[in-house]
Amino acid sequence: MDQESPYWIDGSVPETPGTGEYPDPWKTTEIVGTRVPKVDAYERVSGTAVYPHDISLPEMLHGAILRCPYAHANVLKIDTSKAEKMPGVRAVLTGNSPGADMPWYPRGGKFSGRLFDTHCRHEGEEVAAIAAETPLQASDAIRAIEVEYEVLPFVIDDEAALDPSAPAIHEGGNVVGEPRVRERGDLEAGFAEADVVVERTYRTKCEIHAPMEPHGSVARWDGNRLTIWDTTQGVFSVQEAVARAMRLPLANVRVIGHYMGGGFGSKLEVGKYTVYAALLAKTTGRPVKIFLPREDCFLVTGNRPGNTMTVKIGAKKDGTLTAIDYRSLGSSGAYAYGADSSTLAAYLYTCPNLRTEDTTVYTNAGKARPMRAPGFPQGAWALEQAMDELAQKLGADPVELRLKNIADVLQVEEGRPFTSNQLAECLRKGAMEFGWSEAWARDKTDGHLRRGVGVAACFWGYAGGPPSTVIVKLFADGSVNLNMGASDIGTGTKTWAAMIVAEELGVAVDKIQIEHADTATTQYATSSGGSKTVPSDSPAVRAAAYAVKVQLMRMAAEQLEVDVSDLEFRDLTVSSRSDQEKKVRVTELEKLDRQGVVIGTGYRDPNPEGMVTFPFGAQFCEVEVNTRTGEVRLLRFLGAHDSGRVLNRLTYDNQVFGGIVMGVGLGMTEERVLDPQTGKMTNANFHDYKIPTMKDVAIEHTCVPIDIPDNEFNTTGTKGLGEPATIPTAAAIANAVCDAIGIRVTDTPLNPIQLARLIAEQQKEA
Ligand code: MOS
Repeated sequence: MDQESPYWIDGSVPETPGTGEYPDPWKTTEIVGTRVPKVDAYERVSGTAVYPHDISLPEMLHGAILRCPYAHANVLKIDTSKAEKMPGVRAVLTGNSPGADMPWYPRGGKFSGRLFDTHCRHEGEEVAAIAAETPLQASDAIRAIEVEYEVLPFVIDDEAALDPSAPAIHEGGNVVGEPRVRERGDLEAGFAEADVVVERTYRTKCEIHAPMEPHGSVARWDGNRLTIWDTTQGVFSVQEAVARAMRLPLANVRVIGHYMGGGFGSKLEVGKYTVYAALLAKTTGRPVKIFLPREDCFLVTGNRPGNTMTVKIGAKKDGTLTAIDYRSLGSSGAYAYGADSSTLAAYLYTCPNLRTEDTTVYTNAGKARPMRAPGFPQGAWALEQAMDELAQKLGADPVELRLKNIADVLQVEEGRPFTSNQLAECLRKGAMEFGWSEAWARDKTDGHLRRGVGVAACFWGYAGGPPSTVIVKLFADGSVNLNMGASDIGTGTKTWAAMIVAEELGVAVDKIQIEHADTATTQYATSSGGSKTVPSDSPAVRAAAYAVKVQLMRMAAEQLEVDVSDLEFRDLTVSSRSDQEKKVRVTELEKLDRQGVVIGTGYRDPNPEGMVTFPFGAQFCEVEVNTRTGEVRLLRFLGAHDSGRVLNRLTYDNQVFGGIVMGVGLGMTEERVLDPQTGKMTNANFHDYKIPTMKDVAIEHTCVPIDIPDNEFNTTGTKGLGEPATIPTAAAIANAVCDAIGIRVTDTPLNPIQLARLIAEQQKEA
C-alpha cells in the first residue's frame, strides 16, 4: 500500500525534480517555533484584503444559476425566450449552448455527469445559467426560465438506496464502485481468543463545510487568454480542470486565488460555476462574476457524508486487542465519491486480526466532497467509542488501554515503519496536563449536574510529499521576495513560509514580500488540503532560502578571499570564523550589486522510501451533563498533537482550537436535514443549520504541542495538523458524556433533544 491519499490526487506520489543538496535539520531556531501573528493579519481584519468575492472589474456582468427544485427529475423542455428578453440580460447558457455540452464530475479519468445534465439527480442540480448587468437582474431572469420536469421517485436514505428496488440514480445500481475490503490475520480465531467483546452500531450525520466565503469565480478573457479569480484551495487544480474542460492550453488559463474565506475541503474541487462564468464571459465579451447564494452552497458544494458504522472489537483481559471487525456504509450523494470511514480502525492500534469493509451508495442528494480529514472523524466516532466501551468492560483506564495497543508499524504486509509516531507522548503528556487520572477516578453519581471526562486518539492518513517548487529572490538592497504557488486557506501558510525565510536569511518576517497562488506568476504547488501544505512546501521554502544563502556565501568567499567553509551567515552578514575582521554585509557584495538579484530555487526532497508518515493526536475533554434537560456543557478541551516540529506556535494553537470547534459541530450541533416527503434540504441556511457558536464551544481550551521534529520525513521536521485536530473531538465528547451519566450516545448530533430522550429511557429502565 502506498501512503494513502484519500482524495484529491489519485493515489500517486509524483517524483521530485531533484536538486541534489538539502540543508540538514535545524539544531536550534530563533524564529521558527515562536508565536508570530499572521503577516496579513491587518489586511484580514481591516477589510482591505481582496477576496475573490470582492473582485469587481470594469464592465463586469453578474451570473446566476437555475437549479432543479426536485430531488430527482428529468428536464423535458427548457424555454429561455422570456428570460432572454428580461432587462439587463446579456447571455443565457444551457446544455444546448455552444461549448456547454461537456461531461463533468471528473474522477479517476471517468466522468459521472454533464455540465448541464437533463437527468437531475439531486435538489440543486444545474439547469441553466444567465449573465446580466446586475445580480438582481440575473436572478430575476433565472425565475423567468420555463422548465418542464418529469419528477422521478427518489431515495435519500443510505440503507434504502441499497435495496435493488430503489430508484436508480445511475445505470448499474446504487453502489459506488466495489465495496473496499481490508483483511489481515484470522478474524474468527481472533474473536475466539478474546475474553471481552464489544459490538455496536454508530451513526454520524451529514455535515456541511459552510465556509464564510461562499463559492464562486470571476472570469475574464483577454483574446485567447482566460483569467479566473477563484475562491479555491488550489489554483493549479482549477487551472488544470478548466483547461481540460474548455480544451485550452494550460498556459492560456491563469487562476488567481490570493485570499479565500475558508474551504475545509469543499474548495478542492473545481465548481461548475467557474466554467459557466468562463463560457458566459466568452459569449458576452465581458468579465462575468458568479458567486453562489448561501442556500446553494449548502446544496451543491459538498458535504461530509454521514456514515453508519458497525464495530466489533475483541480483547484479552489485559487489554491486548485480538480482533476488529468494522463495517461502514456511507453516501457519496448523487455523484461518485468514496465515503469510506475505516482507515483509522485499520491502523491506529495493533491488532493482528482485522476486517474492514466500506460501502458507498448513491443517493439523491448533493455530492460529497472531502471535508477536513475525510472519513476520519466518523471513524473515530465509532472506533474511539468502542475502545472506550472496551475499557469500561475491562475496568481499565481508557488512556492506559490505548497506550497498550499503540501501533509501532503500519500494519500492511510485513509492516511498514513510521517516520515518527508520538501517540504515546500525546496520550501521556495530554493526560498529565489535563489531570486525567484524578478526573477519571472521581465519583460521578451525585446531583443532576454530572461531570465526566473523555479521551479519544487519532492519526491522519496523509502527510504529503513532492512536488513543491519555491523561489526566493534576494535583491541588491537585501530585500527579499518569496514566490510559492500554495494557497493560504486561512491557516497561516504565508506566515510560516516567511518565518522560514527569516530563519535562514536573518531578514525580518514582515520585510519579506510574498507572491503566491497565481498560476501565471508563481511556482507549481499541489492544492492546500490533506494537512500537507506545511510538510510538502516548507522544505521547499527552506531549500530556496538555503540556495540563496549558499550563493551569497560563495560571493562573500570570493570577495573576502577566504574559503567558504570558514564562513558563517547571520543576519544578512557573512563573516569569517577564523578572522573577526573579515566580514561583509550582503548589500556590500560587489557581485550581487552587478547582477542585481540572487535567485534560489528550492524543491521538496523526496519522501523516505519504505516508511510511512502520519500525524498523531489525542484529545481530552470534560463535560457537565444536566440530567434534567439533556444539555451538555463543554467545560474543558485539551488537544495534544504530534505534528512534528511546530513552525508557528500561534497558528498551531489556532489550528487545534479551530479543529476542536469543528469537531464540536459534528458531534453536537450539525446535521443536514432532508425532508423524507420531498427529498429537499430543510435547513439550507445559517439559521436552521447549526454551526457551533462561541456559546457551544468549551469554556477552556489547552493546546499541548508534542513538538518533536520528524527529521526522518523532511528537512523541516514537520507533519500536518489541520485535519488531525478535528478527528477525535466528537468521540471524546461522547466518551465524556458516557463517563458522566453512563449513556453511550451512538448517533450524532449529541444534542439535548436526543440526550433528554435517552436519559428518560434510562430512568424508565432503572
Ligand atoms: Mo482538506 S478535506 O484536505 O481541505
